[in-house]
Amino acid sequence: MRTSVSLPAVAFVGGGNMGAAMVMGLLGESPAPAITIIDPSPAVRMRFADQPGVRVEADPAALAAAEVVILAVKPQVGAEVCRQLAPHLNQRHSLISILAGIPLATLSQWLPQVGRLIRAMPNTPMAIGQGMVGLAGDERCQAADLEQAAALFRPGAEVVIIAEAQMDALTAVSGSGPAYLFRFAEAMYEAALGLGLEATTAQSLVTTTLSGSAAYLQQRCREERSFVAGKLRDQVTSPGGTTAAALAVFDQGQLSELVQSAMVAARDRSLALAKGEP
Ligand SMILES: NC(=O)c1ccc[n+]([C@@H]2O[C@H](COP(=O)([O-])OP(=O)(O)OC[C@H]3O[C@@H](n4cnc5c(N)ncnc54)[C@H](OP(=O)(O)O)[C@@H]3O)[C@@H](O)[C@H]2O)c1
Repeated sequence: MRTSVSLPAVAFVGGGNMGAAMVMGLLGESPAPAITIIDPSPAVRMRFADQPGVRVEADPAALAAAEVVILAVKPQVGAEVCRQLAPHLNQRHSLISILAGIPLATLSQWLPQVGRLIRAMPNTPMAIGQGMVGLAGDERCQAADLEQAAALFRPGAEVVIIAEAQMDALTAVSGSGPAYLFRFAEAMYEAALGLGLEATTAQSLVTTTLSGSAAYLQQRCREERSFVAGKLRDQVTSPGGTTAAALAVFDQGQLSELVQSAMVAARDRSLALAKGEP
């Protein structure tokens, strides 16, 4: 894909699941940006060692070559990793953190010398180029800085730019959201087996039905410029039919209230993690 803005030289600190997914997306861009991956893991460095256009390093001194640094380590090691990065960063650098639950204020304490800070919340479908990411910048970020950050995520995700105050809500929707669908898929799969279907058949029926329905919902919402899930549900629900029988059971179990409570719990947990609660 040809990008509309030229991508900056970027360094990934951490080339694990999420870092690698972003790198693979960026390598498909034309032109691809200069990419450095800094990771102490020999397995990560081996994985990218022969990848054209990617420099792999263990030493954070390699950050000097980057304009934008993407922090993609586990949140638990964030403070320690930032201590290691600090001597190699300055006002020239923008830093994008994908550390779940770590607010901009904390990042700013960890790395006061960095020019601009951006907090990102991606989700795991980014690994196949179908992610969703929310971005929030600190008060020093201009629109161009956020657009540059968005361009780095777009190969793998749709991007929304939000105020940081909304990041906990976004986390409850799109950050944790894939797990909600996976949990529902598990329940459907178990029920399909219980109805006597073969495992391979059940797997195909569940995964294709969920992925096809999600793609259909997305396309129709775009076409109709509104959220049409209820309308699409009505279209497959004949009065007295099979779907109506199943949906009545969901309603008896108060599915909407359950989902709302679950997402409030996710939002509250995100708020608690941001305050440093264990
Ligand atoms: N919203 C979501 O759904 C979502 C999903 C996934 C991830 N995330 C966020 O993405 C971040 C990364 O997650 P992940 O799953 O990609 O983690 P991961 O696979 O564990 O990758 C992190 C990488 O960082 C490396 N690392 C550790 N210390 C380092 C250092 N000092 N310098 C450079 N690299 C270092 C690790 O090496 P070792 O293995 O040797 O320690 C590992 O290769 C997390 O903060 C997480 O919160 C969000």
